[in-house]
Parts: sequence; C-alpha cells; structure tokens
Amino acid sequence: MSVRETVEIDLELVEELTARETAALDDKHRTSLTYREEAKRRLPGGVSSSWQSWPPHPIYVSHGHGAHVWDIDGNEYVDYHNGYGVMVMGHAHPKIVEAVRDRVALGTHFAQPTEDALVVADQLAERFRLPYWRFGNSGTESTLDATRIMRALTGRTTILKIEGTYHGHHDSLMVSVFPPQDQAGPRDHPRSLPQTAGLPQEFVDLVVAVPFNDAAAAERAFQEHPDRIAGMIVEPAMTNCGLVLPDPGYLQALKEICHRNGALLAFDEVKTGCTLAWGGAVEAFDVVPDLICLAKAIGGGLPCGAIGGTEEAMGMVLRGELEQVGTFNGNPLTMAAAKVNLTEVLTKDAYGELDRVDAILAGCEDVIATHRLAASMKRLGAKGSIDWSATPIHEYRDLWAIDDRVPQLAWLWQLNRGVFKSPGSKWESWTTSIVMSDDDAKRYVENFASFAEAITR
Ligand SMILES: Cc1ncc(COP(=O)(O)O)c(C=O)c1O
Repeated sequence: MSVRETVEIDLELVEELTARETAALDDKHRTSLTYREEAKRRLPGGVSSSWQSWPPHPIYVSHGHGAHVWDIDGNEYVDYHNGYGVMVMGHAHPKIVEAVRDRVALGTHFAQPTEDALVVADQLAERFRLPYWRFGNSGTESTLDATRIMRALTGRTTILKIEGTYHGHHDSLMVSVFPPQDQAGPRDHPRSLPQTAGLPQEFVDLVVAVPFNDAAAAERAFQEHPDRIAGMIVEPAMTNCGLVLPDPGYLQALKEICHRNGALLAFDEVKTGCTLAWGGAVEAFDVVPDLICLAKAIGGGLPCGAIGGTEEAMGMVLRGELEQVGTFNGNPLTMAAAKVNLTEVLTKDAYGELDRVDAILAGCEDVIATHRLAASMKRLGAKGSIDWSATPIHEYRDLWAIDDRVPQLAWLWQLNRGVFKSPGSKWESWTTSIVMSDDDAKRYVENFASFAEAITR
C-alpha cells in the first residue's frame, strides 16, 4: 500500500487563526451574545439542550428556508447542520407547510390513532423491510423501546453496544458514548463509563461496549457474558464519530453472532434512516436486523420517533405483553408531516439530488490531495465527514489521534464564511439536503480550499 505524503500542520498557526476567527465570529454575533446573557436568566447556559451550546457561543437561529438558515443577527448560512440531520428535506418545504397547516385546523392531539399513522407505517415497512411499527417522539424513545423489547423477549438484562456511539439520553444506553482516553481501559475490554452525572452504576454495569467494525470483539463479548446479553444495538454506520462506514460483511456477521447466542440485533437508524438512502442503512448495506429505531428525518421536522420489528421481535407488543406507550405517540400533526414527507418529498427520485450535491462535495478530496493534508473524506447519501487523519476513522478510538484544534478551526472557518455545520466536527457528520443548489455545495468546497491554503501557508 502506498503511503501518501502529507504536510505537518503548524499548531501555533492554527491557534493564531482560531483566535482571529473567534473574534470575527463574535463580531458577527453581537445580538446572539447579548441574547445569550438574557436567556441565561431562565435557561441554564442560555440553551434548551446542553449540546446546543458549543464554544465560543451558541448561535440563535431566527428562521430557515430551503437549504438556508438565518441567525438572529441576520447572518445567512447554507445549512449542513440541518438540525442534527433532521432537515434532509430542507426547511419549510411547501408540501410539509401545507400538510401541517391543514392538520392544525383539524385539531392537533387526541391521544387516539388517526388514519395517517397507517400510511406512515406502510412507508416505513416498505423502506426498512420490517412488518410492524409503533411511534414515539424522539430517537431516545425509539432506542429505549428497543432495549426494553430485547430484554423482555430474552429475559436477559445486559446490552451490547459500540464504544463511541450515542443512542439517546435514557439511562440504559448513555454509557461509553465519548469515553475519555485516560479512563476507557484497553481496546479489547473497554470500561463501561457513564456519559453524564446521574446515571446509576447498576445501569452502567448492564452495558458491555465493543469497538465498531470488529465482529470478533462482539463474538468474544458473548463468550465472556454467557446467557446474559439480551441484544446488541448498533448504528449501522457511525454518524457521531464523523461518518464511519461498516466494513463489508460486518453487519451481517453481527446478526449471525447475535442470533447464534439467542440475542437480538437492533439497528439505531435515528440518523442513517432516510439520509444514507431511501431505505436507510438497510438498503445501503442490505442487512435487515430484528429491530430498527428511527427518528429525526422521518418526521419532516416535527418530533417523531418509530420502532419497527420483525413479527418475532414485536411479538410481545403484538400480544399486549409489553406496553409500548406515550401520550404523544402517533400525534396527528406529526403523522401528517411524516406522511407527506415520506410519500411526496423524500421520494426515491429525491435521493438523486443528494447524489448531485455529494458529487460537488467530492471536490474536497482534490483540496486534500493538492494541499497534501493529513485528512480523508467519507460520504454516503446526505452524510459525510472530513476526518483529520490520513487514514479514515474506522472505530471510535481512532479519533483520539486527532488534535481537536484543527477540526474546531475548520468549523469556525466555515461558519464565518456562510456554512452552518454541527459543532465538534471531529465527532459529527454533516447532513446535506435535497434542496441544496450546486452553489450551496460549491460554497463548502471553496471555504475548505481557502482553509487548506491558510493552514498550510
Ligand atoms: C444515533 C442516534 N440515536 C439516538 C439519538 C437520540 O435521538 P433524540 O435526540 O431524538 O432523542 C441520536 C441523537 O442525536 C442519535 O444521533
């Protein structure tokens, strides 16, 4: 294998540029900065979710239209954040606006089923190749339901997960999400670590974490915890460590290992569903698990979660032995938005638009080569990331080799030049949308080129 020659990035220069870019960002966000102080009176940190705040400061958004968002200072951006991957259909899509407006006038909540729910479930069944579906309001609820189903069906309590993946904020899975290097233990036996304060140790102890893209590690976990593992939850492509694609055969191997050991396999497609392809990771990698957790993009911008399963996996829900519940499950407003989103907006043809945008973003590969950057790129459907590593990230621990300062500056650079991305670009993949123009995609590549020029000068 030929090793590509790369330039060493001068971190003093990176720090100097970061100070300059931070000052420029502050200058553009005087209203956001003032509002933040005001908001802190009532909202801890001035935000509604801890991850809405990222240094140097949160950005308060006023509105979005199509592929663009505007902050309360009036700055315009092309949106690659897309609400953590929700808005792959673009903001205020006219068909979704119309469907929501029509539904609002008919009443928005009854805690009873409406007819739209069946249309949405039919859509999900076709795309994700599983027969039975129930709804919730978030990804957290979907993975909570999956965990409960796996435990109930098997009578076991331990859950196998991938080190470095996030599955929502409930107690069963907020473990070994971004474990710090000095506490994470050896790669072949990662320590299970709580991601936040307030997690009972008993829950943490019920999680076994293994590296992504390593079927042998999953196999070993089953041998080391005989008859204790109820199931494995896995993001079929990791999207919270940049974009990490599964090795060929890896997902199929996990399914076989789980089944051989009397356990279930759940795909967390909260981020990959409807973004990697029309049928999410199931279509992209052609593996159907026992359970699929969905949320984010399915709801067309409204809070929606869904859990789908095989007849066997959903058996206890079908027979009424396990209560999958929620006041707002299948909410009429959400179902109306999801229905039009899945049947008229995110159609099979629409995915061709993502490929068009993706082909332009591939220009970043040329920038990497021209400037001999120790960086690499991964892209699939609406998702992609630039890894600040000459060899692509293959599992969570590969991130430890990356100096945070470079991706942070890359993020600031884009932000100051009209590209809105999820913060912490070392972790997050971007999400494009079906309404992005060629110019929207070119803006990203041009900014990346000027950034490469600046850090290698
Ligand atoms: C892969 C994955 N699963 C689950 C969740 C939780 O979803 P929610 O924030 O809607 O609860 C997230 C959230 O980012 C996620 O990225």
